[in-house]
Amino acid sequence: MGIFSEASNYAGNPVEEQDKTAKELMAKGRKVIKLSRGDPAVYFKTPKYIIDAYIEALREGRSQYEYFYGAQELREAIAQRYSRMYNLDLNVEEDIIVTNGVSESLIFLNSVLMDNGDKAVLFKPYYTLYKSLLEINNGRAVYGNYDEKNSWAIDLDHLKKSLLHSKRIKYMLVTNPNNPTGTVLDRKIMEEVVSIANDNDLILVSDEIYDEILFNGAKFTSLAQIAKGTKHVILNGASKNFDAPGFRIGYMIVPGEDKISKGFKERVVRYAQMRLSVNMPAQYAIAEGMRNVREHKKALSYMVREIADRTNFAYKLINESRYMDAVRPNGAFYVLPRLNIKDIKIKDDTEFAKRLLLEANVQVTRGSGFGSDNHIRIVTLPDKGVIKEAMERIDGFCRKHK
Ligand SMILES: Cc1ncc(COP(=O)(O)O)c(C=O)c1O
Repeated sequence: MGIFSEASNYAGNPVEEQDKTAKELMAKGRKVIKLSRGDPAVYFKTPKYIIDAYIEALREGRSQYEYFYGAQELREAIAQRYSRMYNLDLNVEEDIIVTNGVSESLIFLNSVLMDNGDKAVLFKPYYTLYKSLLEINNGRAVYGNYDEKNSWAIDLDHLKKSLLHSKRIKYMLVTNPNNPTGTVLDRKIMEEVVSIANDNDLILVSDEIYDEILFNGAKFTSLAQIAKGTKHVILNGASKNFDAPGFRIGYMIVPGEDKISKGFKERVVRYAQMRLSVNMPAQYAIAEGMRNVREHKKALSYMVREIADRTNFAYKLINESRYMDAVRPNGAFYVLPRLNIKDIKIKDDTEFAKRLLLEANVQVTRGSGFGSDNHIRIVTLPDKGVIKEAMERIDGFCRKHK
């Protein structure tokens, strides 16, 4: 029932729902190109200085439970990062809660804020797990839109109208830079969103897990820079910027001194206490990852240069195809092309993604999994040779079905 009933091998996350089929095809000897999972460590090795720090932490015997709030060293490194990058002065003892990935921050967020019938504002297209986690906690979504016709900027008029008739909304969640669109929100729009959150007395949450993966002249503004005085939460982690998704390090920043923020934080901490600890050596490794700015810059600038090149290449091939159009990405590592579904004799994006895997052996994610029908999400991490081959297969598949 519910979120588990949508597809035969649905795993609670649309990104993974075709993994079983892909595995079966590969076992039969088919060369499947996977453009489904946003895992940078498959394509770029986790930086050596971070791996070394992990090994050193183990050698030093750091294999105990850590303080449930997160290791002091990591919380200090996070505070320094936010001071350095965004001029934010965080209280190390209270404002930062380390979690098992941003995923666990999202679990805490929904567990704490959702009572039966409560709602949250999500923007379409949303990161898949936002909706699943909301619904598994008996919450419901009120939708805003990222507007494809306006470079995926937030449609503010639509947002204001959606809020007008909705009650019991607890939080509003934006993703910046965005998964699945690969775009970055403009500062002015963010400022409007902050003021709308204030007017409607909502906690504003910004998932900024890709905040250092920026290119094509993107200008990123963290919510931390503009939300002072507003109830807000920032989510971030090591999976993307530090290329270490398997470490499972994320964190939640709750800087507000108001009663609601403090109450929220107290309840989150109770959840953190109940799951005891986050992986200890991984916390020490990511603390070093953040403190060693020189090594981080070196690793990051190589990775972002490559991602920019690969993403721009994928974008060019997509827009050369008569079957797809996309907005040019400038952050993260995704493109979300719109399928010209009228030119392809396939019912919708779900059918498209299923048959594309079976017939052309390319695995993408259906746009409807992000709340965006008739789109597909393509991960742009593989090298250009693989992207070229995948795009040729997709184009050939579309031609076959035109
Ligand atoms: C927007 C966004 N938030 C959260 C996550 C989950 O991150 P983590 O690995 O920290 O759990 C992802 C992973 O792809 C993501 O794209």
